Amino acid sequence: MKDNFGRNINYLRLSVTDRCDLRCKYCMPIKNQFFLKKKEFLSQNELRTISNILFKLGINKIRITGGEPLIRKDIIEYLSFLSIQKKKGLLKDVLLSTNGTQLKRFAKKLFDLGIRRINVSLDSLVSEKYNFITNGGSLEKVLDGIYEAKKCGLEIKINTVLLKDFNEEEILNMIKWCAINNFRQSFIEVMPVGELSTSRTSQYLPVSFAKKLIRKEFGLFETKLKTNGPSRYFKTNKFKNIIGFISPISDHFCATCNRIRITSNGILYPCLGDNGAVDLKPYIYKKNDLELFKVIKNSIHTKPERHFFKINEKGYIKERFMNTTGG
Ligand code: 5AD
Ligand code: SF4
Repeated sequence: MKDNFGRNINYLRLSVTDRCDLRCKYCMPIKNQFFLKKKEFLSQNELRTISNILFKLGINKIRITGGEPLIRKDIIEYLSFLSIQKKKGLLKDVLLSTNGTQLKRFAKKLFDLGIRRINVSLDSLVSEKYNFITNGGSLEKVLDGIYEAKKCGLEIKINTVLLKDFNEEEILNMIKWCAINNFRQSFIEVMPVGELSTSRTSQYLPVSFAKKLIRKEFGLFETKLKTNGPSRYFKTNKFKNIIGFISPISDHFCATCNRIRITSNGILYPCLGDNGAVDLKPYIYKKNDLELFKVIKNSIHTKPERHFFKINEKGYIKERFMNTTGG
């Protein structure tokens, strides 16, 4: 369906859990993290109810995110439901964003359920650095998972958050590694979603920095490839793989935004960078599908024109972290 600004909204990013087995330093606070109670999570039935209504409203692409979606115990049950809806033609695409820790175990299953493309978050290819930024994660385990996914036939995109004084020296190496493995890649600017003890400005590395470096070493040119997503796509003279740049801070992309988000406890955010939201749970409890339909429709319709966060505005979005809203 179309929103107030004529944008066609057909894409849902659904966070199925706010829990994660990693603790990336830019994503959530190191101490006193806030997690929902498990009983607050949307149940299988509730997930299905909401999904069915969204299909009616023209959502035909769903990305499952978290937290880490693959640590939710009944995730396969919901993915099986989506797989059936896809076979019925109600959905075009089911996608998944993961940190990769559980991929070794799940890759084949995901492929069997009709998932063809996954995004894996990876901010460093140096074990110690990976361990540091994720607060304890194992790079080897994640690489094992990524290679298993590749073997199973899944198309892989590596998402790397650009972080000042952390991974600027790895940018070129990560491009080479993605090229060798035939992975797509996106570099993302850190967003001020959630207030941390460190300032966001101290983490922020603009995509212009990465572009300049890549241009100098490999050559860089923009491709004609366009999706409705926030990425701008580039290629190098040296390699075949596509590199996306996502710059929510330096160059917002709201005019072509086609997405909405729903958190694991049923809160619909029409825009990641705006605090406007509607809690769907009361409508689900009333078992009144018509009312739920209306409230979702209205929320999509009034999606804000653009986000307004800036990197130096301390805590524009304070209490909500990426693990709640979904990456
Ligand atoms: N800014 C940008 N990206 C973030 N992610 C988590 N927190 C932030 C942030 N503050 C990314 C992760 C992963 C996904 C869950 O969202 O790196 O790709
Ligand atoms: Fe987990 Fe992703 Fe957040 Fe890292 S960025 S802590 S992997 S949800």
